[in-house]
Amino acid sequence: MSNFKSRKMFILVSSVMTWTMTKPQDPEEADVVFTEDEFRRRRPPPNFRNHNSLEKLVLKLGRGRKNKLAGYVVACGLQYGMGESLFHYFFKVSWLMQVPKVSLFGPGTNHIPMIHVNDLGGVIQNIVELRPKSKYILAVDDSKNTLEEIVKTISDTLGSGKIDKDPEQYATAMKAFKPEEMEYLNINLRLDAFIIKDSFSLQWTSEAGMIRNMIDIVEEYKDTRQLLPIRISLVGPPAVGKSTIAEKLCSHYQIHHIKIKDVIEEKITHLKEIANETDHDIVSEEEMAAAVNQLEQFSQSLEMNAGRLADYLVVDLLKEKLNSKPCRNQGFVLNGFLKSYKQAKQIFSDGETGSQELLHQRPVCNKKITPEHIFALNATDDFLITRVQGLPQSVAETKRYTQEEFLPRLSRYRQLATAEETLLDYFDELEIHPEYIEVTAADSDYTDVMKQITEMVGVPKNYGPSPEEQAEEDRKRDEERKQKLAEETAERKRRNEAALDEMGAQYEEWRRNLSEVQHQESELHEAHSLPLRNYLTKYVMPSLTEAMLQCSEIKPDDPVDFLAEHLLRDNQQ
Ligand SMILES: *[C@@H]1O[C@H](CO)[C@@H](O)[C@H](O)[C@H]1NC(C)=O
Ligand SMILES: *[C@@H]1O[C@H](CO)[C@@H](O)[C@H](O)[C@H]1NC(C)=O
Ligand SMILES: *[C@@H]1O[C@H](CO)[C@@H](O)[C@H](O)[C@H]1NC(C)=O
Repeated sequence: MSNFKSRKMFILVSSVMTWTMTKPQDPEEADVVFTEDEFRRRRPPPNFRNHNSLEKLVLKLGRGRKNKLAGYVVACGLQYGMGESLFHYFFKVSWLMQVPKVSLFGPGTNHIPMIHVNDLGGVIQNIVELRPKSKYILAVDDSKNTLEEIVKTISDTLGSGKIDKDPEQYATAMKAFKPEEMEYLNINLRLDAFIIKDSFSLQWTSEAGMIRNMIDIVEEYKDTRQLLPIRISLVGPPAVGKSTIAEKLCSHYQIHHIKIKDVIEEKITHLKEIANETDHDIVSEEEMAAAVNQLEQFSQSLEMNAGRLADYLVVDLLKEKLNSKPCRNQGFVLNGFLKSYKQAKQIFSDGETGSQELLHQRPVCNKKITPEHIFALNATDDFLITRVQGLPQSVAETKRYTQEEFLPRLSRYRQLATAEETLLDYFDELEIHPEYIEVTAADSDYTDVMKQITEMVGVPKNYGPSPEEQAEEDRKRDEERKQKLAEETAERKRRNEAALDEMGAQYEEWRRNLSEVQHQESELHEAHSLPLRNYLTKYVMPSLTEAMLQCSEIKPDDPVDFLAEHLLRDNQQ
């Protein structure tokens, strides 16, 4: 510090956690709200004693007139915004909607001091610029919400709107957190910040807190984590393969398959459930009456239209479905259904003829439900007819592809395409230009179609597979790898054995050849050796045997020399 040429600043970003054990001045008082001028009385829980010591150390830096280092402590509330930090779990569970209720742990009645991360940034920037006299600064927003209120609002805005306070369920939620994170979320404290309110000039992102700004926070969360819905619409003649492609797309992008038949069935089942509910704590009498009313309307319409729901009712149901949280969160593939310009306008246009429409002379659509990708599948009549003829009778019947039904359907479809204003014109005017894709017999499993579509739509925008799905995928990949390895090993073994067999066979042959050769040689040798033996016996052996007999009798010092001389003498005689 003595070497500093100018004054410097040290800002410690700490936590409100060092306040958690603070006792109110009046022990009788309930619902105390602490203010930052009481900061010397703050008491940390055991796990935050180090934070506390560090805060004290930094505050001490500022003392002494000649001191060139000014220390500030910022005690900040739990942060949210830009991905939500500790609160992310609740956002994620709500967004996914895989469980009907968002689990809370503990009763959730604890108050959590919070601050949006942008506002924390603003506080620090203000300290840098203003060099305030107070060295201990509390950074919390105006909210004093309980954990339950926070989670309920997240669930309302993003998910089913339901929360689960059942202690049995805590365990699952708690597994998502580390013990120290749990300690943060269990904080129960109400704090008032004055310095940032009175002396700082903050451009607040979220002064009133997370709950009041939830709609913006949710947008920011989706944006930061790139959880953007993918909305696709498939149109095309009957039997072109819309359902199969829709299913493939839904599983690739983890989005929802919208089939109008299912939407209607689901709605009727749901209405019946409401109408049958006798517990008025779950379903209010008004809700029940409304459900009964709507069911009545449906059954009348079904009667009047020979078992089909009137178009305006279907359009309403579809709109409701596309506006549901799952479709808004993840997106959807709308399978068929869209037929005409007028119908598309009924579904996607906002209804009001705003000034914008007059200005630009084009339809205004509800951006939250309008598909961003339209794929117009097409195939020749011959192809479609051949395909349908190849189906078993039972399948053809359930899909209304029988001879009597299919041809009129196909020609109705072709007819619609010749209208003055077609469905595809509607999207063209919105500048959502349809992509035309030809389905052919060569691409029977739609590999090419899928490739074309996924290239245009891009990568999935969601959390990806859950840990369980990831594990399952890893397991499958591992198994495939092992299988391949086993196959390769077996193949190598097989090849080795074949090579060995061949070598063995050659060796055998070689050995046979060798023994054959040896056999021939020895016969040759035999043949040769016969006259030789006779010759030796006749001319050499008598003299040699003589000499050797003499040698063994006399036993000379040098027997070979004796033999040589004996033979020489014998020869001269
Ligand atoms: C509703 O109640 C009626 C009459 O009790 C019954 O026939 C029907 O199956 C019930 N529906 C559902 C969805 O529970
Ligand atoms: C779809 O295919 C049919 C038959 O081949 C053809 O008449 C029609 O023009 C095609 N439609 C589009 C939009 O390409
Ligand atoms: C064995 O002998 C046959 C005939 O002489 C010959 O063609 C073959 O190459 C020989 N095999 C070996 C392994 O030497």
